[in-house]
Amino acid sequence: MEQGKNKDGRQNNDSNGIIAIENVTKKFGDNVVLDNISLSIEKGKTTAVIGPSGCGKTVLIKHLIALLRPNSGRVFFKNRRIDDLSENRLNKVRTQYGFLFQGGALFDSLNVTENIIFPIRQHCEISDFRQVEDLVKAKLAMVGLDGFQNYYPANLSGGQRKRVALARAIALNPQVVLYDEPTTGLDPIRSDVINELVLKLQRELGVTSVVVTHDMTSAYKVADRIIMLHNGKIVADGDADHIRNHPHPVVQQFIHGQVDEDDLAVLRMSGGVSQAQFLPRDFEQ
Ligand SMILES: Nc1ncnc2c1ncn2[C@@H]1O[C@H](COP(=O)(O)OP(=O)(O)OP(=O)(O)O)[C@@H](O)[C@H]1O
Ligand SMILES: [Mg+2]
Repeated sequence: MEQGKNKDGRQNNDSNGIIAIENVTKKFGDNVVLDNISLSIEKGKTTAVIGPSGCGKTVLIKHLIALLRPNSGRVFFKNRRIDDLSENRLNKVRTQYGFLFQGGALFDSLNVTENIIFPIRQHCEISDFRQVEDLVKAKLAMVGLDGFQNYYPANLSGGQRKRVALARAIALNPQVVLYDEPTTGLDPIRSDVINELVLKLQRELGVTSVVVTHDMTSAYKVADRIIMLHNGKIVADGDADHIRNHPHPVVQQFIHGQVDEDDLAVLRMSGGVSQAQFLPRDFEQ
């Protein structure tokens, strides 16, 4: 083995990196979503991933936990290659991750406690229910929802559901939490509760976070580093000031919420709004 490299041939000099992707390309048919991307995620830091809808943010963070595997390139967790591991071995690695899925997806038929212990059940045999109860209580207290143990998702607000999903994501004390659009659909105050939770996990538990978001207020508040994806590439990478002052027009359009010229051209194309309206008689035989 070459000096300074581990058995996967990866240089061991990146001591602050916890996750790395190297030259990752991901295609679905002809659609190249990630185009030869390399990225190292620093331990204990919060990285935000921004970019227009459909640019590949979800696809990117799924690679960080090997829920998707690249067509080419490699993914590492703590310098160990993970994209080529069997599902069985990956499940062990995944216990060190928490994943807050886009939409927060709780199981509707399970109450809050059962939702939170779901990942614990998947990875270990529960023998001490008292201990589990204490754990659920502690996790719910962390997200400000102790007392909601017996509620079903249908009886919770959108913000409460996101917080329960976060309690579930941190159930196994993960070292890394991946958040996919944690504040989408929440009002500014509830969004800020989520932002504070991300910061609290980093401050109190040293958690490494990767947050996919459209919400620039949230990105500026929680992130040590912001990465923007566009056309399969990373077009900007730096702290909040770097992004605010970035010269790339696509970055400026995104952070200021402006529609780009191509999208406007599509909206202006033939067929006004009136032609897209239907009346009930249009459907009569
Ligand atoms: N399993 C899949 N099969 C085929 N195509 C996929 C699959 N998953 C994602 N894609 C495609 O990859 C591209 C990127 O999708 P992705 O979900 O990563 O976008 P996104 O940046 O997360 O968008 P949004 O902000 O709307 O969530 C899209 O064109 C999408 O259609
Ligand atoms: Mg997405």
